[in-house]
Amino acid sequence: MIELLPSILAADFTKLGEELGEIEQAGVRMVHIDVMDGSFVPSISLGMPVIASMRKESKLIFDVHLMVDEPDRYVEDMAKAGADIIGVHAEACKHLHRTVTHIKALGKKVCVVLNPATPLSVLDYVWPHLDQILLMTVNPGFGGQTYLPEITAKIFALREKIDQNKENILIEVDGGIKLENVRTVLNSGANLIVAGSSVFGNQTTEQIKAFQKIFSEYEENEKC
Ligand code: DX5
Ligand code: ZN
Repeated sequence: MIELLPSILAADFTKLGEELGEIEQAGVRMVHIDVMDGSFVPSISLGMPVIASMRKESKLIFDVHLMVDEPDRYVEDMAKAGADIIGVHAEACKHLHRTVTHIKALGKKVCVVLNPATPLSVLDYVWPHLDQILLMTVNPGFGGQTYLPEITAKIFALREKIDQNKENILIEVDGGIKLENVRTVLNSGANLIVAGSSVFGNQTTEQIKAFQKIFSEYEENEKC
């Protein structure tokens, strides 16, 4: 399964409802929502009230990426606001195991996010609780950055680890993904492709269709 997750951070916030309608119309099933606290990452983006408003407008699966310190403080509020998948940074959690089991207990899907410099081994003892792993392909905090090529090997390594253990955990990638380099992350084994600046802004529907065309070619040939 391969999905495109447009990142709402790159949308026009004065017409969020319309933007959500357009991506849904174009065939997208999931949307990526970046929450930034100005501490774990330098910037500040949006929080629960915006997510709750979006929830009223959209049936898309909400993948909430918490770029906040001690995200445990917010997982309940995010679940109430309408998150379906809650992603927490391993680097931001004092007690990662407690936080992932907390998300599970709320009936939501668990995603653990790793910064580029964080090794995969931090996941070793939370593995059974994971639905998704998000590998950052830029340092988090801003849209429009350049894909870090050194993370390609990390995606490969994670794909191998998941396949060896016969697990169904999905691999998500986020940061600097464009039509020109998406084949690289697909070939490395990623399933969930976040894209912000390469989707929103100009010809959103056409951009989504172009991504989807590459995905179906990949799924037909298992390589592109
Ligand atoms: C960056 C965020 C991303 C961001 C991606 O810290 O986590 O989700 O919106 O934007 P692009 O695709 O423009 O790099
Ligand atoms: Zn993100």
